[in-house]
Amino acid sequence: MTDLLLLPGDGIGPEVTAQVRRVASRLANDLKIDERPFGGASFDELGSPLTDETLATAKASKAVLMGAVGGPQWANAPRDKRPEAGLLGLRTGMGVFANLRPAICFGPLAGASTLKREVIEGLDLMIVRELTGGVYFGKPRGIEDLPGGGRRGVDTQVYTTFEIERIARVAFELARGRKNKVHSAEKSNVMETGLLWRQVVTDLHARDYADVELEHILADNAAMQLVKNPKQFDVMVTDNLFGDILSDEAAQLTGSLGMLPSAALGEPGTPGLYEPIHGSAPDIAGKGIANPLAAILSFEMALRWSLDRADLADKLYAAVGKALEKGARTPDLGGGLTTIQMADAVLAEI
Ligand code: IPM
Ligand code: MG
Repeated sequence: MTDLLLLPGDGIGPEVTAQVRRVASRLANDLKIDERPFGGASFDELGSPLTDETLATAKASKAVLMGAVGGPQWANAPRDKRPEAGLLGLRTGMGVFANLRPAICFGPLAGASTLKREVIEGLDLMIVRELTGGVYFGKPRGIEDLPGGGRRGVDTQVYTTFEIERIARVAFELARGRKNKVHSAEKSNVMETGLLWRQVVTDLHARDYADVELEHILADNAAMQLVKNPKQFDVMVTDNLFGDILSDEAAQLTGSLGMLPSAALGEPGTPGLYEPIHGSAPDIAGKGIANPLAAILSFEMALRWSLDRADLADKLYAAVGKALEKGARTPDLGGGLTTIQMADAVLAEI
């Protein structure tokens, strides 16, 4: 059985996942690691961004680590053949509905953020993004021609009580092991799904999690509060689209999008999907300067959440911290290290 399936994908994906492989072989060389093409690379080689075989291998692995998908060369492919469609298919195919996106400011990087040091120093926030529902998947969707000329694009935002309750449960459970505070973000002032979201979270809280502090917040206000005073947050639970946007914003608080890992989890006992939050970064792909830390920290999350190796995860996390303390910086963090040198700096601390 595969322990870790690597899906390097496109752009900087192969560069950063190659560093994960190096770290894994140093830290846990007993792990059985496999690799499959994914996204645009898979489309070019196999005619589909996610083949049945890759999905089957993913579901039969203990953990899956994806690099990044997408790029301008596939922008005009039909939507179901686009690299991003492969990722959405992988998420739903694996049933990983709970996306944990931590935004942690490593002490030595407090000066690397575009925000003031005092605003972000010590930041430790967890965004819990619903990942397999909402407007990304709702039907009807499409672009149609209008009889009188012009076209109409439609997306559908849809959530069921079941979907809202299971993601809220993940957030409340996580909060209990942290600072015990959950913010639930939606747009209940204008959206029906937002209203249902608020009602379901309120009910679940009263029923099972009254010991956890709960605050409802409108998603636009959450965006503002994130840059104003991000340390007021502990766990923030939100839907697929708002979670996509708010997690990019949260990532920048920590200094660079190149720092943030994520874990997507399904029902207990099923494999998790681990991804850096950053994209394929076509502008720097192939230059060897991408920050590998988001991918390396995604592996750290895989060790913790899917591979049952929390001891190694702790070790790796500490090594990343030490490397940063000693000044290791890729260009996104204002330094001059290459991707390989940054991984070397981490390896040196293991
Ligand atoms: C992310 C990305 C993806 C998303 C894209 C690549 C489909 O932005 O993981 O945040 O929108 O979910
Ligand atoms: Mg995103």
